[in-house]
Parts: sequence; structure tokens; C-alpha cells
Amino acid sequence: MTLPETCIAPSLLSADFARLGEEVRSVVAAGADWIHFDVMDNHYVPNLTIGPMVCEAIRPHTDAPIDVHLMVEPVDAIIPQFAKAGANIITFHPEASRHPDRTLALIRDHGCKAGLVFNPASPLHWMDHVMDKLDIVLLMSVNPGFGGQQFIPGTLQKLREARRRIDAWTQAGGAPIRLEIDGGVKVDNIGMIRAAGADTFVAGSAIFGAEDYQSVIAAMRGEIAKAETQSV
Ligand code: DX5
Ligand code: ZN
Repeated sequence: MTLPETCIAPSLLSADFARLGEEVRSVVAAGADWIHFDVMDNHYVPNLTIGPMVCEAIRPHTDAPIDVHLMVEPVDAIIPQFAKAGANIITFHPEASRHPDRTLALIRDHGCKAGLVFNPASPLHWMDHVMDKLDIVLLMSVNPGFGGQQFIPGTLQKLREARRRIDAWTQAGGAPIRLEIDGGVKVDNIGMIRAAGADTFVAGSAIFGAEDYQSVIAAMRGEIAKAETQSV
């Protein structure tokens, strides 16, 4: 999987669930890089969404990577099912796994990219001990469970801190790790989120809530590009 420098990953949570295949095709045609797939179990988070069968059903509709965000507890049993259903990236919340190191290895053993997700109040130090097993780090900029919430501004500082840790790791010869942000990402804040160090942007309501997906994605890319020029 070769990846662009920055990725936009629309979250299906805000798509029309009655027409998911069509929504996936339209958003990819509109310029999406990844499909973000939110899995909620009404246990780890107070909401219930979609599982491996839906992942398998959308898989034939796109070649774009499917980025599965697991908000479930326990985690391990569902990983082989998602790998079989065509997931490319699987991330989970370390608090939801008894053995996060083992869970990361399990994801890679099943041929997927692996990552940890940090809630707004979760400390980043979980990542320090598993850098060699991470392909991606996802910072939540809202509390997980629902789309359409407000971006928590303190996440910007946390993003800078995560960026610093990832850069130190790659400068010391470590493999690249993507830095993804999820929650309340809009056209008007994506520039500052980019400037704080994110390279992968989940957006649900901002994209699927709009009439024209293409113009929102293009506007987001424009803001990202502006932030990059300004920070040079
Ligand atoms: C929240 C989910 C998000 C959500 C983002 O728990 O992980 O992916 O869909 O939605 P917006 O972009 O509307 O905040
Ligand atoms: Zn998500």
C-alpha cells in the first residue's frame, strides 16, 4: 500500500447506512484516500454500529484502504474476522485490550497495518513501548461514540507531542508511523490540525453532511496545502 503524504479518510458513521456501497463509491470518486470504518459495541462506547459483515459487503465497492477503528472490548477475537472481511488498517484503544502489544502483533500477523487510538484523556506513553509494532497512531479529538461532536482544542498540543515522538523514532531509524486525527475535523480547523502534525484526517459529518463531497474534500486539501506553505 503506497500512501500519499496526507490522507483524507471520510468516516462512514455519517453516511447513509441504507446505501453504503453507493456512499463508498461516491466519496472515493470525490477524492477520499481511505474509508474510515467505525466499529462500536455498546459496551466500550455507548453506541452500536457495524461489524465485519458490513466491511465485507463494502469491500467490492472500492480499492481504497479500509481503516477499521475498533471501539470494542474485548478486541482480539474480532481482528481475524475484520482481516478476512478485507480491512487494511485496524486500530484499537489500548484500554480495551488486556495485552496491547500482543493485539498489535495479532493485527500484523493477519496482514493489516496496526495502530493504537488515544482518547482525549488517555496518555500517549502507551505508544513508547510498542513503537516497533505501530503503523499508525490515532488521536481522538472527541470522546468516542458519536459523530458530529466539537473538536477538543487541547488535542492540538497532544498532536504536537505525538508528532515529536514519531519524528524522534523515525530519525533514529524506525519505520514510518502515520498520525491520524478523528473527531470534529472541518474545513475551518483542518489547517491548524495539519500544522500541529497530523497527516491523516478522519471527517464524518463535515463530508457526509454536505451536498457535494468533492467540494468539501477539495476545500480540506486546500487548507492542508495552505498550512504546509505557512509552516515552511
Ligand atoms: C467517533 C468516531 C468518528 C466520527 C467522527 O467515535 O470515531 O470517526 O465518525 O465524526 P465527526 O467527523 O462528525 O466528528
Ligand atoms: Zn473513528
